[in-house]
Amino acid sequence: MNNLIKESLAKLKQKNISNPELDLRILLKYASKKNNEIFLSNLNIDNIDIVKFKSYLQKRINRQPIAKIIKNKPFWKNNFYVNNSVLDPRPETELIIEEVLNIYRDKNLKLKILDIGTGSGCIAISLAKEFKNASITAIDISKKALEVAEKNLKIHNCSNQIQLKLIDFKNINSKFDLIVSNPPYLTNDQFNNADPEVKNFEPKLALIGGDDGLKFYKEYSNTLQNLMNKKAYFVCEIGYNQRKDCEEIFKNSGLYLNNIVHDLQGIERILSFSKI
Ligand SMILES: C[S@@+](CC[C@H](N)C(=O)[O-])C[C@H]1O[C@@H](n2cnc3c(N)ncnc32)[C@H](O)[C@@H]1O
Repeated sequence: MNNLIKESLAKLKQKNISNPELDLRILLKYASKKNNEIFLSNLNIDNIDIVKFKSYLQKRINRQPIAKIIKNKPFWKNNFYVNNSVLDPRPETELIIEEVLNIYRDKNLKLKILDIGTGSGCIAISLAKEFKNASITAIDISKKALEVAEKNLKIHNCSNQIQLKLIDFKNINSKFDLIVSNPPYLTNDQFNNADPEVKNFEPKLALIGGDDGLKFYKEYSNTLQNLMNKKAYFVCEIGYNQRKDCEEIFKNSGLYLNNIVHDLQGIERILSFSKI
């Protein structure tokens, strides 16, 4: 094995990085002059831009997440531009898309959709690609996050279907057929104990849901039914162990819990509610 690889792997392992081989392959691929797949056992070092690679490696040693280094994260069927102003799209959030596809079998429906806390725009854009006749309002209170979403809208040619708005969900007053949201849901303690990748590189505004992590669900339960058409659905992500509390919170809100979706670890992750 090449010395560069041996030394780089040792440095990553020393920092307790959980998938050092995989991370190294990705960093080498993005530093490669040909941007081709990398095999550690058979690396042609001449194809690597060494200066670029060393700067990527140092960032990873400082516990910067891979997606934030290469400024790209796959989600559902597409790749999304990301930077420090947005949460990296997570695989469990893809379950929101799956649940929506489960609810609406007809992809030609002209759904009016609201995405609360759009961040990178990953949910809104994925839904726009699935439901070509849908019109989507994607909101966030972070101007910088909306700049990232705007960039992704352009990359994915969705500007005609998605309207971005810098607004707090409490100030929205139109009605929708579907509301989706992956709100901030960590407690302060969970945030303080999170890995450096999360704590130091993801925006706090995207992560913390108040002292108990439930702030957004409480506020949603007071407001969302007024934004929903008669047959509308609300599909949201929840944090670890929050299902019971969320069920209780939404009990008297005029919304009925329809479905609970588990993620790959078996954690209750997505709740879907309807008005009737
Ligand atoms: C957990 S991130 C979700 C980002 C993206 N939808 C995803 O799933 O990857 C939550 C987002 O909600 C936004 N946000 C926080 N408070 C908000 C509010 N009151 N109204 C609208 N968006 C808000 C944050 O700026 C952040 O972008």
